[in-house]
Amino acid sequence: MEFRYPVPVTETGWNITDVGTTVAFDWQYDTGRQRMLNLYQKGKDKQWDSIHRIDWDHEVDPTDQNLLPDEVMPIFGSATWERLSRAEKDRARHHYLAWTNSQFLHGEQGALVCSAKIVATVPQLDSKFYAATQTMDEARHVETYARYLNDKLQLTYPIDGSLKALLDQTISDGRWDFTYLGMQVMIEGVALAAFSMIRDFTGDPLGKAINAYVMQDEARHIAFGRLALKDAYAELSEGERAEREEFVVEASYLLRDRFLAREVWETLGYDADELTAYVDQHQMMGEFRKALFSRVVPTVKDIGLWGPKVQAAYQDMGVMHFQDADIDELSDSDDRIAEEMEALLAARIEGRTVPQDGSRAAEIAATMAAGDES
Ligand SMILES: [Fe+2]
Ligand SMILES: [Fe+2]
Repeated sequence: MEFRYPVPVTETGWNITDVGTTVAFDWQYDTGRQRMLNLYQKGKDKQWDSIHRIDWDHEVDPTDQNLLPDEVMPIFGSATWERLSRAEKDRARHHYLAWTNSQFLHGEQGALVCSAKIVATVPQLDSKFYAATQTMDEARHVETYARYLNDKLQLTYPIDGSLKALLDQTISDGRWDFTYLGMQVMIEGVALAAFSMIRDFTGDPLGKAINAYVMQDEARHIAFGRLALKDAYAELSEGERAEREEFVVEASYLLRDRFLAREVWETLGYDADELTAYVDQHQMMGEFRKALFSRVVPTVKDIGLWGPKVQAAYQDMGVMHFQDADIDELSDSDDRIAEEMEALLAARIEGRTVPQDGSRAAEIAATMAAGDES
């Protein structure tokens, strides 16, 4: 399906070699931390299957204006935008949405690789258990975004340069906690905020549901990072802490810059320099990019990487006000939204002619009932 890729995948292959790391075994089978084991149990209980939980029969017209309001397009209001015809604006939206979801997809594959790496490198067995459930979660997320892109948007962009650079650093560093810091805290923290934008702004019920369900899992992944790192970072030396704080600062800037979507404007034949400068300065986008840090900032503070350099960077980015956000409350509300969406979907499916034996509606009802018991 090469035609679906504006840049052929044969040109974008990627292998990271020389990953100097230590693979750790833990022979103590009776020392699991209760909070970690509880999270592991939750990870097992809350697995879902996109084949059954998502209404793939729903048709998506990639040029439909309901997919994303014009005002939410990052180039809305630019000179280029004003010149575009209605059809060209709709094409730009299609490409921008495909690009956004493609970054989610590639980020999910990155998370799949990172959580598998954690299984091998983290010293404690209880963390290996949890990372194993996350690995399965991430495989399901890759599967889900890939299907949405392939079947519905029918267009897939390559990985953005900033995201790729951060993934590279995260995976190449041999120290086990850097995988957590780069993936569970930074990349997943920002992803969670980006998913919520699509969940809350798109008029496409399918896009809404996918992002809501994925977010339900991601909240656990961030909790996993917090738990593991809070314990480990309590004992850091001054120098070790400084190295990690530097990484946080660098990663934060890379993640902030990953939303300029240069590749999209180039592919569409627009003036990419003009538009990335516009997106960089545009006020709406400024608010959007700040909101991306709503989950990262309180987490970084919570795990104790809150030295002057980190605070100065967050001051500079205008995101310090997130430092006292209640992460647990945010996760609970993500959970609630996903459950509500599922109930709505089940009602909608029951209301229309259910194919053959009605197994789909029954399946969703059963999943919901299982959710109620926990
Ligand atoms: Fe994920
Ligand atoms: Fe994740």
